[in-house]
Amino acid sequence: MEARVCVLAGDGVGKEVTTESMKVLEAICRKFDHNFEFIHAIVGGAAIDKFNNPLPPESMNLALGSDAILFGAVGGPKWDNPSADVRPEDAILALRKRLGLYANMRPVKVYPELLHSSPLKPEYLKDVDFVIVRELTGGLYFGRPKRRSASTRGRRAVDTLAYSEKEIARVVRVAFELAKSRRKRLHSLDKMNVLETGRLWREIANEVSRDYPEVELIHMLADNAAMKIITSPSEFDVIVAENSIGDILSDEASVITGSMGMLPSASLASSPPPPGKRRGRRGRPALYEPIHGSAPDIAGHNVANPVASFLSAALMLRWSFGLHEEADEIESAINKIITEGYRTIDIAGENDHKLSTSQMGDLVAGIISSGPK
Ligand code: IPM
Ligand code: MN
Repeated sequence: MEARVCVLAGDGVGKEVTTESMKVLEAICRKFDHNFEFIHAIVGGAAIDKFNNPLPPESMNLALGSDAILFGAVGGPKWDNPSADVRPEDAILALRKRLGLYANMRPVKVYPELLHSSPLKPEYLKDVDFVIVRELTGGLYFGRPKRRSASTRGRRAVDTLAYSEKEIARVVRVAFELAKSRRKRLHSLDKMNVLETGRLWREIANEVSRDYPEVELIHMLADNAAMKIITSPSEFDVIVAENSIGDILSDEASVITGSMGMLPSASLASSPPPPGKRRGRRGRPALYEPIHGSAPDIAGHNVANPVASFLSAALMLRWSFGLHEEADEIESAINKIITEGYRTIDIAGENDHKLSTSQMGDLVAGIISSGPK
C-alpha cells in the first residue's frame, strides 16, 4: 500500500528515536512491498526558535494532509519559563484538538526480562497487561475559562473541568470496544464523590455499558485507582479516565513496568478497526508517539531507547493502515532482542549487550529484513 506519514520529530530525543523508527518502517516496506512517503515538519521548541510558534500553519497542514503522524517529543529546559507566552507543549495540545484525537491509548505491559528495573517486587507484576484509555481533547486541559488575572488582592488563575455527555460517551465507547476484544473488564475512573463532571461521567458510563453486556464495568474513584495500580496492577484490563486523571495515572502505570522507554501510545479519532479491517482513508490521521518525553538530559548522545517509538510505529501499522502482520513483525523483533539481552542503557543490566539508539534501529531493521516472510 501507499501511505503518507508525517514525521514530527520535535525536540530532545524525539529526532533520534523517530529516525530509527523510519529505518524500521522502511525495512517493513521493503519486505512487504509497501511504499511510505515520510514528510517532515517542524514542531515544538525548535519551531518556537525559528517561527515563535510551536506549531506553524505549514506543519499543521502537512499533518492534516497525511495518513498518520509519527510524533517524537517536545519540550526542554530552554523553553520552560513559566511566564513564556508560547510553550512547546502547545503544539501537541493543538494537534490533538484540531485532529479530534479524543481517545489516547496507552498500553502498559510488563516484559518479564525487565522486571529487575521495576521499583515494585516482581510478585506484584505477574501478568500485568492493561491499557489506559485517556480522554484527550476535553476535561481540565481544555475547559474554558482558562486564564490568569491579577488584582489588588493578588494573582489568580483558573482552569475549568467541563464535559458534554457526547465527549464522555464516545471515549467510554472506545474503551468498551477495546475491553470487548480483550479480557472484558473495564475500570471507569472518576471523582464522583467530589466533582459534578465525575457524576456525569459515571452516569454516562452506565448508559453506554448497556450496549456491552459482555464487558464487566467497574467504577473506581481515581485516587483509589492510583493505589490499586501499585498494589494490584494485574487486576486491570482496560481503564478509561478524564484527560488529567489519565495523564497522571499513565505516568504512574508506566513506571511500575520498569520499562518506560518501551511504552508506546496512540491518539485516535475513533475506535481502532477490528483485526482484519482497515481504517477508512477519509478519516483524520491518528498520531503515534512514545509515552516518554524529550529527555533533554540524554538528547544528542545516541543513547535513548527507541523501542517505545518502534512500538508506536507498530500501532500505526495496525490501527491506521490495518497492516497487522507487519505490526506483528516489529513486535516480535523487539521481543526477540529483549529475550536475547540487547538493551539501551536505561534498561541494561550488567550482563546485557548494551546498544546505542542507532544500533537498536539497525538490529530491529536487520531482523525484519532477514527473517522469513
Ligand atoms: C503527555 C504529556 C503531555 C500532556 C504534555 C507534553 C502536554 O505529559 O502526553 O502525557 O500533559 O498531555
Ligand atoms: Mn503526561
